[in-house]
Amino acid sequence: MSNTNDQHESSHRPPNRRKEMSRRQFLTYTLGGATAYMAGGVVLPMLRFAVDPILHKKTEGSFVKVVETSKITNEPQEFTFELQQQDGWYASTASLTAWIRKDEKGEIYALSPICKHLGCTIGWNNEKSLPNEYHCPCHGAHYTKEGKNLAVAPKPLDEYKVKVDKDWVLLGDIIPNTRVK
Ligand code: FES
Repeated sequence: MSNTNDQHESSHRPPNRRKEMSRRQFLTYTLGGATAYMAGGVVLPMLRFAVDPILHKKTEGSFVKVVETSKITNEPQEFTFELQQQDGWYASTASLTAWIRKDEKGEIYALSPICKHLGCTIGWNNEKSLPNEYHCPCHGAHYTKEGKNLAVAPKPLDEYKVKVDKDWVLLGDIIPNTRVK
């Protein structure tokens, strides 16, 4: 009688949904977790190393000390200076040139020597038939003291950003010419 009752009760009990974890599953989870942990320890530093240069801001807006203001005249003069560059992981030193003068109001400005035609290097007063102009020896472009393009080149010479600090001229980024229209 009681046996019949037991059978009756067990048929109304909710089925046991909890599954026991097999030894194989336990090993799979444990090894999988350990592998993921170790892989994270290797991969994350590599990932950090790979994206590090991207996370660092470019050193835009920095200025380099180039020459004392007392050496600047109304006549354009060529000055060479060095710029530390960081391109991703590659650090290098670039040697740059600027033509610097002060205008009639005493304002100092600096022009880039890169011809706006095809990128040759211009010079000041380097062509007898074009006195007091910048001239490009490659295809004959020439420019005024302010860098205005007079022939061949489609645009005026670029300028450097200029800052004067404690009697020194500092040069920054190269920007489009602001002195000529
Ligand atoms: S590159 Fe200067 S004139 Fe052509």
